[in-house]
Amino acid sequence: MSAEYKIGVIRGDGIGPEIVEQALKVLDAAAKKRGFFLSYTDIDMGGCSIDKYGVPLTDEAVDAAKASDAVLMGSIGGDAATSPWYQLEPSKRPEAGLLRIRKELGLFANLRPSVLYEELKDACPLAQATADKGFDLIIVRELTGGLYFGERYTKNYHGLETAVDTLSYDEAEIRRAAFKAFDIALKRRCHVTLVDKANVLDSSRLWRKVTTLVAEGYPDVKFDTMLVDNAAMQLVKDPAQFDVILTENMFGDILSDEAAMITGSIGMLPSASLNDSRFGLYEPSGGSAPDIAGQNIANPIAAILSASMMLRYSLDQDEAADDIDRAVKKVLEDGYRTNDIYSKGCKKVKTDKMGDEIAKRL
Ligand code: IPM
Ligand code: MG
Repeated sequence: MSAEYKIGVIRGDGIGPEIVEQALKVLDAAAKKRGFFLSYTDIDMGGCSIDKYGVPLTDEAVDAAKASDAVLMGSIGGDAATSPWYQLEPSKRPEAGLLRIRKELGLFANLRPSVLYEELKDACPLAQATADKGFDLIIVRELTGGLYFGERYTKNYHGLETAVDTLSYDEAEIRRAAFKAFDIALKRRCHVTLVDKANVLDSSRLWRKVTTLVAEGYPDVKFDTMLVDNAAMQLVKDPAQFDVILTENMFGDILSDEAAMITGSIGMLPSASLNDSRFGLYEPSGGSAPDIAGQNIANPIAAILSASMMLRYSLDQDEAADDIDRAVKKVLEDGYRTNDIYSKGCKKVKTDKMGDEIAKRL
């Protein structure tokens, strides 16, 4: 009997629905080729859930996600300056739904690969010599701890309004993220760089201590550390020096956008958020891009590669994942480009056409 998987689908807001549509198209083609079945259950999260239910994530939505083998997501959120969602208190805004689902599903490891495709070197904003060298790195971002989930409050101290966000990590939270990073390094170029601010922060000093101990169990993996300000600089100077970057939640948020941009477009980068089992939530690294939503011009490749990561990490369908990765590469070789990665001489295509061309190449 061929395998059948239940996929939760969060289309979300902004460009989410249109790029997820292309990912499902490609997934169906991949499943057909490799002989397995996928069933999809729509799950509301973000602004669309606020519009329907008044909250960015309902308990039913959490249950539906938990009942799935994996969740594929588009993006959530809108323009904070104009959208009514941002008139609500912070705990009721679209982003709160995303943070809650990460926590509820225990998705502590966020994998964000950043690869410069040969074909897109012209779109890379780095110096020519740096772009020519290429790069292929992955950020392992801790996702359920640190500043994002610490105690926070705003109150009046001695007549001054004062806001407090706490950054706390225990050794177990650090250890499990570190194990993920080292396991991933073993399948890549065997190099882990821990990025921290150990010259200032106690939490960073604990990250160093715990990660150094974990590293001792991986004698084949080279381990080094780098301060986060330097890492921000090194990413634009010489990204080829990195293989696996391990870092805490907030640093990972910032560095992963930087690492995405140096590939030429944030529309190319997938991401996986994993828990201790094989379950994961897969989403593009980029945001909801409300400025281009609904115009059929967004780049669906990040969503399509997120689907490929889902096949690989949660469903054990490595061959189908390889098929998709190859098809994406092929479509770039054949000169198809969405607006964000377009350069002269290439064929400019819309979102749905890019999906069709990739599906065709499976
Ligand atoms: C991300 C996003 C989220 C984060 C926002 C939308 C809360 O920027 O996934 O990187 O900060 O984690
Ligand atoms: Mg971010």
